Amino acid sequence: MRCLKHCLVLAGLLAALLPREALALDNSDCYTCHEDKALTKKGAGGKAISLCVDQAKYGASMHASNACTSCHADITEAPHPEPFTAKPVQCAACHAKAVSSYRASIHGVARQAGKLNAANCDDCHGRHDILSPGAPASPLRHENQAAVCGKCHQEIMNELRNSIHGKAMKHGAPDAPTCTDCHADHQIGGLKAVSPLKVAEDVCSRCHASARFNARYNLPMDRVTTFFASYHGMAAKFGSNRSANCASCHGYHNVLPSSDPRSSVNKANMVKTCRKCHPEANENFSFGKIHLDENSVADTGSRINWWIRRMYLLMIAGVIGGMVFHNLLVLRRKLIAIWRRKDRSVLRMTLAQRIQHILLLTSFITLAITGFALKYPDSWVRFLVGSNEDVRRLGHRAAAIVMLALAVYHTFYIIVTKEGRGLLKDFCPRWKDVLDVFGNLRYLLFPRQPKPAFARFGYAEKAEYWAVVWGTLIMGLTGIVIWFKMSITEWAPRWVIDVAITIHYYEAILAVLAIVVWHFYLVIFDPDVYPMNTAWLDGRVSEHWYREEHELDRKSLPGSVVSSPQEESDDTPSGSAGA
Ligand code: HEC
Ligand code: HEC
Ligand code: HEC
Ligand code: HEC
Ligand code: HEC
Ligand code: HEC
Ligand code: HEC
Ligand code: HEC
Ligand code: HEC
Repeated sequence: MRCLKHCLVLAGLLAALLPREALALDNSDCYTCHEDKALTKKGAGGKAISLCVDQAKYGASMHASNACTSCHADITEAPHPEPFTAKPVQCAACHAKAVSSYRASIHGVARQAGKLNAANCDDCHGRHDILSPGAPASPLRHENQAAVCGKCHQEIMNELRNSIHGKAMKHGAPDAPTCTDCHADHQIGGLKAVSPLKVAEDVCSRCHASARFNARYNLPMDRVTTFFASYHGMAAKFGSNRSANCASCHGYHNVLPSSDPRSSVNKANMVKTCRKCHPEANENFSFGKIHLDENSVADTGSRINWWIRRMYLLMIAGVIGGMVFHNLLVLRRKLIAIWRRKDRSVLRMTLAQRIQHILLLTSFITLAITGFALKYPDSWVRFLVGSNEDVRRLGHRAAAIVMLALAVYHTFYIIVTKEGRGLLKDFCPRWKDVLDVFGNLRYLLFPRQPKPAFARFGYAEKAEYWAVVWGTLIMGLTGIVIWFKMSITEWAPRWVIDVAITIHYYEAILAVLAIVVWHFYLVIFDPDVYPMNTAWLDGRVSEHWYREEHELDRKSLPGSVVSSPQEESDDTPSGSAGA
């Protein structure tokens, strides 16, 4: 007896020490009563509500491993007291995200506003038989879903079933839309008040813009593009709330092919459809092409359109092309006249320097265009590069190789050749350049100030030269890191590549803007040299201009100790004689 008493005390102690779960009620405790098909309770109006839980269905559901009390958390003992009214189940305890997205939906809002007929979780998901929405037997699966929503939206369900979309669904088309394809699943909101753009872009285009989709169902490829090219589409894109969207003409739940006499876009109904918004619409207005295909020649209207378009394209090419041709001839004459001017006697760039400059400018421009084509594939750059990514990438890399090879050659040139050493010496920054910056600013800002005199290269040219050196180094280094990202990430973290991409992008912007703002001003837009300083073509500049801008470079000016060379063949670098 005493032994038994001790045992009981010990067992009690052990039970108190055990974790709570061990004491939690087992599902079998509940099934003893709730598996009984006859167990019912009188609901409102005296109707019998079944209290039976189908063990097989529950066992197959997503919650099979849940304890009954994980949802019915208010039940702490079995049997529970009778009569018994359970507290509503809180799905949010485990599905906070789903619940909050649902609460924001039209159903959730309606429910919180006390319209109790609006959907609750179990209206769509069920209770004890909840399956994953994609599972074949789930009521929410694609092909079954209309029936779930149709419990409350019966008319719409019927309309959808009779539409081309419903028929496609019945025939097993995997892409046929059901309710949540157009309305989104938990975020279900009305589509009535949304902008036409949203319906066109987010609802119908999801399927009808896809080339693969249209090929699969043998549908015209261009319906979405022609809509956005039309007046209605453009107005929708620019925010019009009155413009037509796909659904204004085709309907939404009752979409039918235009060949079906019941379709809102069948000839018989077109006037009515347009009159929804154009009250005076007549047959001529309504029967015109809506999805106007620029290349179609199917009927008289399209053919006339086609010819007019061709005529204009020809006219634009002819007229503008002719203008360009004419003005190029004028420009050529004037450039020749400038070239022939007697005083173009100062040699500014040797042949070797001009070749380097041409290589630099072609590789730079190619790099800029192909580079920005990557960042802005939809911009005008596309017209220069085409939409082929491989072409763009190969072009970028080829130009990069040219530029880096040029950089290597140039280094060799300024170290090894006499001409190059002279160039380097004249590009070398000096204290005078700093004084020149201030001197020049004073001259530019205030009247009656003396103009500073410059040697072969003033501070402007020096800054530019060293900027190119710097830019090539940075762009070359980061470019190589991006190019060889796989090898680099073998020993460096991924962010190294990301940082390199950022530097490469912003340095490119800096370089392109510097060229446009600084270099193009100096050699093109400066009124003294306009339309262009042509030294990069034939090496020469006018003595008059050179005296103005570089009067301290006596070596290059005629009449000084070392006069300028006479022939192209014996080009000597100006100013290098002293090196
Ligand atoms: C001894 C039999 C018995 C056991 C064991 C039992 N129940 Fe019940 N349960 C009933 C009866 C009878 C009712 C109806 C009570 C009434 O009419 O108010 C009921 C009602 C309920 C209700 C519905 C209350 C409502 O609001 O309508 C829930 C939920 C419930 N039980 C859950 C459980 C769970 C979970 C367990 C296991 C932990 C369990 N029951 C164990 C007999 C039982
Ligand atoms: C995923 C959560 C969940 C689990 C797990 C769960 N239930 Fe329910 N149960 C519900 C919901 C939801 C209701 C409807 C009432 C409500 O909304 O609170 C409900 C209602 C009931 C009812 C009232 C009759 C009915 O069908 O409306 C009984 C009885 C019941 N549950 C028993 C059980 C038993 C027994 C188990 C374990 C085998 C169980 N439940 C497990 C969510 C759950
Ligand atoms: C109007 C019908 C409807 C109601 C009401 C509803 N759901 Fe859903 N639920 C869906 C649909 C439809 C899906 C997604 C189907 C799909 O993506 O294939 C879904 C998906 C889910 C999922 C899957 C995970 C996810 O978020 O993708 C969970 C969990 C879920 N719902 C919980 C809830 C809860 C909790 C409530 C109540 C607060 C609720 N649902 C109310 C229709 C509904
Ligand atoms: C005690 C926690 C808990 C509660 C309460 C709960 N669930 Fe779940 N639910 C789960 C778990 C666990 C899963 C399985 C998740 C998995 O396997 O991805 C699940 C899965 C689901 C899924 C399938 C999700 C998917 O991704 O396929 C739906 C739908 C769902 N629950 C709805 C509900 C609804 C509706 C309620 C309220 C009536 C509810 N749940 C209450 C724990 C819970
Ligand atoms: C092909 C896309 C599509 C499908 C599929 C679809 N809807 Fe709609 N639905 C719409 C559009 C678009 C609107 C709003 C049109 C408007 O008023 O401008 C709408 C409006 C509604 C409305 C508001 C009342 C009304 O008739 O204007 C309800 C309710 C609705 N849909 C429920 C459903 C249900 C339930 C299903 C599934 C049986 C469903 N929808 C299937 C596109 C669709
Ligand atoms: C339990 C009934 C019920 C079920 C099931 C149900 N709904 Fe609803 N739904 C409503 C009610 C009620 C409203 C009206 C809310 C209001 O007036 O604010 C509504 C409103 C809507 C609206 C907004 C209509 C508008 O005026 O713009 C859409 C869209 C919608 N439901 C779609 C669906 C879809 C999709 C499903 C299935 C996944 C579904 N509903 C399932 C009851 C239900
Ligand atoms: C989830 C994909 C999907 C969405 C979203 C969708 N459709 Fe469709 N649509 C289809 C499929 C699939 C067919 C092809 C049915 C067939 O021919 O078998 C179709 C056919 C059509 C047709 C008939 C073409 C013909 O002549 O056979 C029209 C018109 C149409 N859809 C308009 C719309 C409009 C308007 C919307 C937006 C309110 C829309 N669709 C949204 C999938 C979709
Ligand atoms: C202003 C009215 C109007 C708008 C807006 C409109 N359509 Fe159409 N659509 C028509 C008419 C009329 C036809 C039939 C004659 C034709 O082929 O041009 C048609 C034909 C079609 C067809 C070919 C199948 C058939 O029924 O002949 C599809 C698919 C289609 N439209 C989809 C769309 C989509 C998707 C949008 C939105 C991006 C859209 N439509 C916008 C009027 C419109
Ligand atoms: C949902 C409303 C709506 C529907 C339906 C609609 N339109 Fe329009 N449409 C507009 C609006 C808004 C404008 C721009 C303002 C205006 O002209 O009244 C417009 C402009 C036009 C224009 C260009 C006129 C101009 O001023 O440049 C044509 C052409 C046109 N619609 C043809 C049609 C045809 C044909 C139909 C029937 C197949 C149709 N629309 C159906 C709303 C609609």
